[in-house]
Amino acid sequence: MKKIIITGGAGFIGSHVVRRFVNKYPDYLIINLDALTYAGNLENLTDIEDAPNYVFEKADITNREQLNAVFSKYDVTDIVHLAAESHVDRSILSPLDFVYTNVIGTVNLLEVAKEKWKGNYADHLFYHVSTDEVYGALGAEGLFTEETRYDPHSPYSASKAASDHFVRAYHDTYGIKVVVSNCSNNYGPYHFPEKLIPLMINNIINNKPLPVYGDGQYTRDWLYVKDHAVAIDLIFHEGKIGDTYNIGGFNEWKNIELVYLLCEQMDLKLGRAPGTSKQLITYVKDRPGHDRRYAIDAGKINRELGWMPSVTFEQGLSETIDWFLENTVWLNNITSGAYASYYDHQYENR
Ligand code: NAD
Ligand code: DAU
Repeated sequence: MKKIIITGGAGFIGSHVVRRFVNKYPDYLIINLDALTYAGNLENLTDIEDAPNYVFEKADITNREQLNAVFSKYDVTDIVHLAAESHVDRSILSPLDFVYTNVIGTVNLLEVAKEKWKGNYADHLFYHVSTDEVYGALGAEGLFTEETRYDPHSPYSASKAASDHFVRAYHDTYGIKVVVSNCSNNYGPYHFPEKLIPLMINNIINNKPLPVYGDGQYTRDWLYVKDHAVAIDLIFHEGKIGDTYNIGGFNEWKNIELVYLLCEQMDLKLGRAPGTSKQLITYVKDRPGHDRRYAIDAGKINRELGWMPSVTFEQGLSETIDWFLENTVWLNNITSGAYASYYDHQYENR
């Protein structure tokens, strides 16, 4: 029987991965290991929290004793590692937090796996979930492939790049079975409202300014989070050991065009006159070191594992807006308290 630790399972993407594995694989035990930082929220998982094949363990990946205890308690067979500090703007304010969690936390987890699985590495998998930001920035043309040279620019992407290198180093040096995937920008239900799409949705609902960084011409490739969870499932079960898979949505948008689209869709859904929300757009100081464009060539995962995004952007965005409009309690629980204070002060602190 597989007993899989999913780290960061109370976060945005992690909660979708946990839900998929719990529902699809009743014979697996899914252990959601999460420290419940500001971004971790068990309200993301209320629909599956009583499932017989699901348990939650509050533990910090930087704490070896806590990891040892969880490993011993469950005789863990595999790890899907998503726990991280994930927000670029926060990494500019507090880079060391990103080193502790993303670099030291990942190496700590690798160390525990190395010790606990010793003599039996063939039976265990360490799957590391990473980001396309490790590849740096593209100009107007081109796509990131699995062969693109690493060139991270933010403290966040530098910390994720370092963690990717450590995961591969543990494969090459100790023979631990690993697989890594690097994905583009996700969006969907349970997205923490510090990130572009949920932040804009929340501010449109509340008639607050829509802060667009710099000239708004920065480009991102957006993928519906449930399609990312499908890709993770496929790679976990069928990915080639030691390999890397890029995951993307074939869906590039300039930030300002995306904000226009959100404004249009939300005016319709909220019954506001066309053009109302656009008036909230406010150009603000740019993010330092802001990467101009990300775009993923997801050809390898398509050819080798048959994966393609299943949800169109129109569908995914509409479902996402509906979800936020229907889940105001979830949103209000997050946007009150500590987050409100971070949000109000983030620009002046940068
Ligand atoms: P998130 O910030 O929503 O969630 C992170 C989770 O990790 C939270 O539940 C938090 O409590 C937990 N966590 C943080 N520090 C921890 C620690 N020290 N010990 C245990 N748990 C801890 O992040 P997300 O957006 O869901 O991203 C998940 C992973 O996917 C990250 O590794 C991120 O780098 C990667 N990724 C994210 C995106 C994206 O668009 N969001 C795209 C590609 C890759
Ligand atoms: O590419 C994958 C990465 O996508 C993940 O690894 C990260 O964890 C995730 O946070 C995301 O990083 P980005 O920096 O691309 O996402 P964010 O939503 O913060 O910003 C998207 C774009 O929108 C970026 O160009 C900055 C811009 N932006 C963002 C915010 C929050 C704005 O213009 N205004 C804003 O208020």
